[in-house]
Amino acid sequence: MRKPIIVANWKMYKTRVEAEQFCEEIRPLLAGQDKVDAAICAPALQLDILKAKLQNTGIGVGAQNMYPAAEGAFTGEISPRMLQDMGIDYVIIGHSERREIFKEDNELIKAKVKSAYEYGLCPILCVGERLEQREAGETVEVCAGQLLSALEDLTAEEVEQMIVAYEPIWAIGTGKVATAQDAEDTIKALRQAIADKYGAATAEKVRIQYGGSVKPENVKELMAQPNIDGALVGGASLKPESFAKLVRYQEA
Ligand code: PGA
Repeated sequence: MRKPIIVANWKMYKTRVEAEQFCEEIRPLLAGQDKVDAAICAPALQLDILKAKLQNTGIGVGAQNMYPAAEGAFTGEISPRMLQDMGIDYVIIGHSERREIFKEDNELIKAKVKSAYEYGLCPILCVGERLEQREAGETVEVCAGQLLSALEDLTAEEVEQMIVAYEPIWAIGTGKVATAQDAEDTIKALRQAIADKYGAATAEKVRIQYGGSVKPENVKELMAQPNIDGALVGGASLKPESFAKLVRYQEA
């Protein structure tokens, strides 16, 4: 059985004081909750606060990006070694905002995924299609292409442990959520693509999230789909009450 995992992606939101306040408020709201894995991917400057304030809560802490080298002349970048040194659990890789705005390509994303494993970080690999690709019927081809390219240098054991997030670009921050059935169909196809390459047993273990305008009001229906194992949540993860509702979706 795959344990559900709900992850907050704070993107470029929250000062240190705001991050601290969120942690104070989320602690009691998620106390005792262990049916679902929860994690928060914060801006790098807030990670130390989350590590300190979320100690012993079971809530994981993640970064939103990294550069695939231990150290070096890469001005402005953060390395997996630095994240490991801070005790970070997860790192989002290949988010569509990185692919689209910062022009990250599949080669760089593949190197990032490999490098995350070298430093004991669990990658949350994002894949997703643009609206015109969906309209042209290319969704599965585009997303499976991004996925298989990113997995190329991994062992089957590494593939098993990773988290994949299917995030249709047209659904991110737009309020347009894919229907639960559409999300399920694509995620099922992605699991099949993993099975074809690494075997069914490996594919059955990979946790695949949906992301794109997930809210407390629609999370339950999405999570009811057999292949959807979690959610990667932007906007609705910024308020403690809302994030707690998302994590506690089974109780609603
Ligand atoms: P959203 O963002 O929930 O605000 O649509 C999701 C994401 O980009 O991970």
